[in-house]
Amino acid sequence: MSTEQQRPQSTGVFRTKTVEQSIRDTEEPEHALKKSLSAWDLTIFGVGVIIGTGIFVLTGIAARNNAGPATALSFVAAGIVCALAALCYAEFASTVPVAGSAYTFSYASIGELPAWIIGWDLVLEFALGTAVVAVGWSGYVRSLMDTNLGWEMPVALSGPDAGGSFDLLAFLLVLVLTAILVVGTKLSARITAIVVAVKVTVVLMVIVAGLFFIKADNYSPFVPPAEPQAAGSGLKAPLIQVLFGYEPTNFGVMGIFTAASLVFFAFIGFDVVATAAEETRNPQRDMPRGILGSLFVCTVLYVAVTLVVTGMQFYREMSPTAPLADAFKSVDQPFFAGAISLGAAVGLITVSMILLLGQTRVFFAMSRDGLLPRFFSITHPKYRTPYRATLLLGVVIAVIAGFTSLENLAELVNIGTLFAFVVVALGVIILRRTRPDLHRAFRTPWVPLIPILSIAASLWLMLNLPTETWLRFGIWMAVGIVVYFIYGRSRSRLGRLGPDAKF
Ligand code: ALA
Repeated sequence: MSTEQQRPQSTGVFRTKTVEQSIRDTEEPEHALKKSLSAWDLTIFGVGVIIGTGIFVLTGIAARNNAGPATALSFVAAGIVCALAALCYAEFASTVPVAGSAYTFSYASIGELPAWIIGWDLVLEFALGTAVVAVGWSGYVRSLMDTNLGWEMPVALSGPDAGGSFDLLAFLLVLVLTAILVVGTKLSARITAIVVAVKVTVVLMVIVAGLFFIKADNYSPFVPPAEPQAAGSGLKAPLIQVLFGYEPTNFGVMGIFTAASLVFFAFIGFDVVATAAEETRNPQRDMPRGILGSLFVCTVLYVAVTLVVTGMQFYREMSPTAPLADAFKSVDQPFFAGAISLGAAVGLITVSMILLLGQTRVFFAMSRDGLLPRFFSITHPKYRTPYRATLLLGVVIAVIAGFTSLENLAELVNIGTLFAFVVVALGVIILRRTRPDLHRAFRTPWVPLIPILSIAASLWLMLNLPTETWLRFGIWMAVGIVVYFIYGRSRSRLGRLGPDAKF
């Protein structure tokens, strides 16, 4: 291996940090996170964040509007896209075990500008993802209060989805979670473990109890025939239909993919496991196990839940806000409905919290590199958490959660995440060529075939997202590029200190 290979390219927007630099960064005491997580913690972490609003809320929306009972197939399609991406993520996470996920991976492989773009993109994914889940949580809590306690939240404080304007519960949830994260990851991991147990129990309960109420009629038609979308909804049509000049439709075979691009949200989270690499005791061994393990468990559960609830209730009658509980109400089982609402309300808390954690860690890594103000990457003297980034982002996200509605946000999160998958898969191919010498605890099989398939599959789901989602995403990314050229490019530590600088 030549010395050239080990050095970062220090000029231009494609300058890269070496993997060694990335790992060394984490050893600066002021900017270091505690290494306390094991493979088991990571899997709990993974399941803790993966099962959430996606299965609890979006299943109903997707079945009603896009795919009927075939939503189960949408989960399979989305799961395959994620498994391909997971194989790439696992290689990266086990090679570059530092905070920041796809951001860090890209910095070590493709270059600074692409890394910035991906970091900016992940900020979108995690921040809006936190907000989506907080809003979903608020819906279940309100439904529980309403149905079981007989106390209704005033409409004005119920959020846009319920016809109000400010979602007080979602707002408060994000603030409380922010405070917990400032105090430290270990505390959060313990809470996570308990909540994950509750959540998995509820999901299993839906599957087992629901089996007894399935009516075969509800599966007919399993793939509802295509029907035209309401007129004037051009921007709401999937980009692929617009690009190829189809008349926008719902349902049919294409509907399965439209639904897949929405319920994809249900899988988001395995990539968050990768953001905790720096806090993992043995990342080389535990990261791949944690990522692939949690993804597999969740896919099986999702398909089962979807088959059960669409078998219990005709898809057109499914609730768009609390479909799992509502399926049980529809068969006169209020006890199960209440228990599910309670479990969902408890379970969604961890999802929101871990997304928020992932968010602050990406921001932290970008700040440590100087692409965002270094002020944000000073860790707390006692708790050793990136408390400044956590506080800033927590408050901003709380406000977003208070004022925005669910479906559009989820689609925006999805496009951002799929874009990150594309970059990570590219990164695997590039890093294999530029740094073949690096130790990889986990190697993606059949490179470059798997990364190429991962890129194609992610792009396919992206194309099935609405045109307006593409526009919003384009605007967000354009703003990010402007910020980079105005701020990050000149302040980057790699840029200022050069290849031999100690990071
Ligand atoms: N996958 C997570 C959810 O469905 C983000 O809520």
